[in-house]
Amino acid sequence: MSCIFIELGNVNRNILSNAAQNALASGVRRMFELAKKYPDAINLTLGEPGFITPKHIIEAGMRSLEAGKTKYTPNAGIKPLRDAIAYKLEKENGIRCDPDKNLIVTAGATQALMLAMVTLVNPGDEVILQGPNWPDYMGQIEMVNAKAVYARVDEKNGFKMTADIIEPLITEKTKLIIINSPSNPTGGVLDEEDLLGIAALVKKYKLFIISDEPYERLVYDGFRQKSLAAIEGMEDYVLTVNSFSKTYAMTGFRVGYICANEKITENLIKLHENMVASVPEPMQMAAVEAIYNGEHDVKEMVEYYDRNRHLIVDGLNAIRGFSCHEPKGAFYVFPSIGGFGMTSNEAAEYILEKTHVVTAPGNAFGPLGEGYIRICYASKYEDIAEALRRMREAFGTK
Ligand SMILES: Cc1ncc(COP(=O)(O)O)c(C=O)c1O
Repeated sequence: MSCIFIELGNVNRNILSNAAQNALASGVRRMFELAKKYPDAINLTLGEPGFITPKHIIEAGMRSLEAGKTKYTPNAGIKPLRDAIAYKLEKENGIRCDPDKNLIVTAGATQALMLAMVTLVNPGDEVILQGPNWPDYMGQIEMVNAKAVYARVDEKNGFKMTADIIEPLITEKTKLIIINSPSNPTGGVLDEEDLLGIAALVKKYKLFIISDEPYERLVYDGFRQKSLAAIEGMEDYVLTVNSFSKTYAMTGFRVGYICANEKITENLIKLHENMVASVPEPMQMAAVEAIYNGEHDVKEMVEYYDRNRHLIVDGLNAIRGFSCHEPKGAFYVFPSIGGFGMTSNEAAEYILEKTHVVTAPGNAFGPLGEGYIRICYASKYEDIAEALRRMREAFGTK
């Protein structure tokens, strides 16, 4: 816990909220700072597509800006984008939704998740999520004064958060479950059978569930990600969260959305007004273009990531100290660093020092991430090849 005191008159006051005091320092940011002293550092930490947003998507945003679309937009998002999202959800995910009742456009999935938490969770409630997990979930749960309950996922089971590991964690305080498939940081995916198990659980205990799906299109080996909300009877329980960031290399546009039950959506819209009011129209028009005309780009990017995936998995598995599970989705590998005989912090620092390759320590992804590091393979193929060459040279091959 970190406190900041300031003097007001002769009174010393702690100015920070509990959420700020309890906020975890980012383990990824720490590695960034350490990497600054190496001009030749190769940074494989950030979950950022290695591509610039496709030109036609940028141009759609520019046209909107040039047409003077510089004002506030409706809280729920502009109608053309809600229509486009409803079309996409039905066509690709099998989720039927009314664009006027079940959808809200948000500032990326990050704000979508925060908004969902603020709308559903009270102080003292419990939120079940997988561990290791995307770090922002922990910060957001902290911000609503709720308690994170971690479902330990296991590499041997493809890092899947299945119903059998969730059920023992459910108490009368459980309000929400978060699933994330494909997952950051593990790249693990839930298949239809896993989702059916979770659906049965949610129905049995009458719980809300967020299905955070920003990596749904980044899948490999013919796997197709199914949406929990498409399972019969699930539409009232599930808040489907998605984003344009990863699928279309649009992280800087900050556009995402939630599809949920009508009553929940009404309240999401109310609280969204207090949080960001609305998402800029040019960014929303770029997202419309992405949905209707971005398919070709997605295919090209996924092919590129897939090539990187093979390179990194095979490469790491040949290097002493690492053991790397082959992820089925997203653009991360989460190799075990057991062979180094170090904590994840020590291993990430050691790798940086010896090779100038920047990786994220597993403990940055929650208490259950220890023993691993995360590497993002969305960057240039040549950079990944060079990072592997340096690691082979430094640590030797098996
Ligand atoms: C699992 C997960 N959910 C949500 C997000 C948020 O994405 P954005 O806010 O860019 O849409 C990220 C970003 O890294 C993520 O990894």
